[in-house]
Amino acid sequence: MATPTLSIFILSSLLILSSFSNAQTQPKAFTFPITKDDPTNQYYTTIQIGSKATTLNVGIDLGGNFLWFNSQEYFAAADSYRPILCGTKQCQIANGIGCIFCFLSPPVPGCTNNTCSDYSLNPFTGTQGYSGLGQDVLRVVSTRGAQYKVNNFPFQYSDPVLREALATPTAGLIALGRTRVSLPAQLSSAFKIREKFALCIPSSGSKGSMIIGETAYTKPFQQTSESALTTPLLRNPVSINGNEVIGNLTIQYFIGVKSIRVGETPLVLNETLLSINKRTGEGGTSIRTVRAYTSLHKSIYAALVDEFVKAAAAKNIKRVASVAPFGACFDSKTISSTEAGPDVPVIDLVLQSKSVYWRFYGWNTMVRAGEGVICLAFVEGQPNLSGPTTSIVVGGYQMENHLLEFDVAAEKLGFSRSLLLRDTSCDKFGAA
Ligand SMILES: *[C@@H]1O[C@H](CO)[C@@H](O)[C@H](O)[C@H]1NC(C)=O
Ligand SMILES: *[C@@H]1O[C@H](CO)[C@@H](O)[C@H](O)[C@H]1NC(C)=O
Ligand SMILES: *[C@@H]1O[C@H](CO)[C@@H](O)[C@H](O)[C@H]1NC(C)=O
Ligand SMILES: *[C@@H]1O[C@H](CO)[C@@H](O)[C@H](O)[C@H]1NC(C)=O
Repeated sequence: MATPTLSIFILSSLLILSSFSNAQTQPKAFTFPITKDDPTNQYYTTIQIGSKATTLNVGIDLGGNFLWFNSQEYFAAADSYRPILCGTKQCQIANGIGCIFCFLSPPVPGCTNNTCSDYSLNPFTGTQGYSGLGQDVLRVVSTRGAQYKVNNFPFQYSDPVLREALATPTAGLIALGRTRVSLPAQLSSAFKIREKFALCIPSSGSKGSMIIGETAYTKPFQQTSESALTTPLLRNPVSINGNEVIGNLTIQYFIGVKSIRVGETPLVLNETLLSINKRTGEGGTSIRTVRAYTSLHKSIYAALVDEFVKAAAAKNIKRVASVAPFGACFDSKTISSTEAGPDVPVIDLVLQSKSVYWRFYGWNTMVRAGEGVICLAFVEGQPNLSGPTTSIVVGGYQMENHLLEFDVAAEKLGFSRSLLLRDTSCDKFGAA
């Protein structure tokens, strides 16, 4: 055993060392890879969790509440897993809605006593899983390439049933939504960084990245970010998922689409559908990585297809029989190509003013649906699985190869033009 003087000496040098290394290495931003799973059109990242640093692929849910997964590999190595107990501050932060009593000796992830609990949601099936919340160490990598630990990262170890319809390589979903237990919120509070993240979603066969925090980007992404247009991130006052109790505000990200144009022609729409009904939560426009293609309310979809088919015909593009789930398909031989994909009329989501619009070129609006057939990559919205129906849900295909910056702290979304127009793509996105 060391003498008292020696321990004081060791302690004070440790203090000096640790404050020194903190000053040198206080991270500003973290990076996560993004891969597209082609069979399901789902986008996922890779995390390391637990004392054994179990590596898991997890789908990216922009509007999700908290991380949830089920993994035998993690289960077998989960000696640092700790439940979030009922009535604790962490339970409050997670907005847990109940308390679970489960007795196993020793306790295991998914069955611990007196545990703060909540519903997780599988947004592909609409299935919800009610179980206890826990926490474990999450390892993250800074944009400088250094590894950091986030202690007590909250998540739900879910029932395996909840994995139904998830991409085969994935074990669950990681949440980026507007909660205090989402990945951006947790990194923001653990490292005192701004709650902000950039998403650069890849097209199939390529890689993208997500950067959480504030940092300069590599060329030409820094310029792209500086010249990006911005639009307010809106709040839907009514929960979209039946079980959310986040002050009754939805945790999904909404933007204010005011009109839709095909080429220069605005669609004639029922404008009531474009705004959020503050009483019912219906209407409005959300952005979701867990939807493959942008979906539109039936009447908006019909107006888009009508106008697009007309504008395509004016370019001598030949329409062919539709291939589900798409409502407008064309003979690919009648479409020429450009740097931004098939040469078709552009589609604009017009935001707070006529000069602020999110423009989609052929690369983001047309998808191959068979030999010689390409289709308009927008679909008719299905009635809600649970909760109110959003009129426009911007899906993953439309986000691909755009730089999207969610400045949650300032409630603003920055969106770039298609990166392909700058002769680059999301696989090159990174921190300077
Ligand atoms: C479970 O937790 C409750 C509440 O703290 C406690 O009353 C009970 O004795 C515990 N049961 C077991 C088996 O530990
Ligand atoms: C919010 O949700 C709670 C619990 O579901 C409910 O009792 C309350 O009336 C809601 N408040 C508003 C403003 O909708
Ligand atoms: C427009 O949409 C709203 C909301 O769905 C609906 O109540 C209203 O009847 C619609 N108006 C017309 C003219 O279709
Ligand atoms: C959509 O959500 C509303 C409000 O929660 C509900 O009353 C309605 O039944 C749902 N519609 C469908 C088709 O599920």
